Amino acid sequence: MKQKKALLFSNAKSVFSNAYAPYSKFSVAVSLLGINSTIYTGVNVENGAFPQGMCAEASAIGKMVTDGCTKIAEILVLADTEKPTTPCGGCRQRLMEFSQADTPVYLCNLKGFLEETTMGILLPGAFDLNNI
Ligand code: THU
Repeated sequence: MKQKKALLFSNAKSVFSNAYAPYSKFSVAVSLLGINSTIYTGVNVENGAFPQGMCAEASAIGKMVTDGCTKIAEILVLADTEKPTTPCGGCRQRLMEFSQADTPVYLCNLKGFLEETTMGILLPGAFDLNNI
């Protein structure tokens, strides 16, 4: 378990410099641990037509789902900030689609772990089409 956390961090860090963020200059990398024990990374991919930009979470989810995995066990978000960078509102909903309220979310900077939270804390009362 401890080992997995360290791997989520090192994998995110290894792709961090691949973030394509020429407009905001704010790079983000995400690691998702699928319940298949595979780690899926993603970086933000911006676009000159701004609304077409993609968050790191969306990139990682795209890889995971393409690989046939639709359940997230753990989430890690990495940015070069002193304070923890949390997923944006849209990405909280994106992540929740494949998570549970108790799914851990690790918020990191380049030096290491800053905060541990859960999807339920980040997105209380999440919209769930299967539960209305
Ligand atoms: N961004 C992410 O990729 N994930 C987050 O959790 C927060 C924000 C990106 C979107 C945009 O490319 C840049 O960070 C600045 O908002």
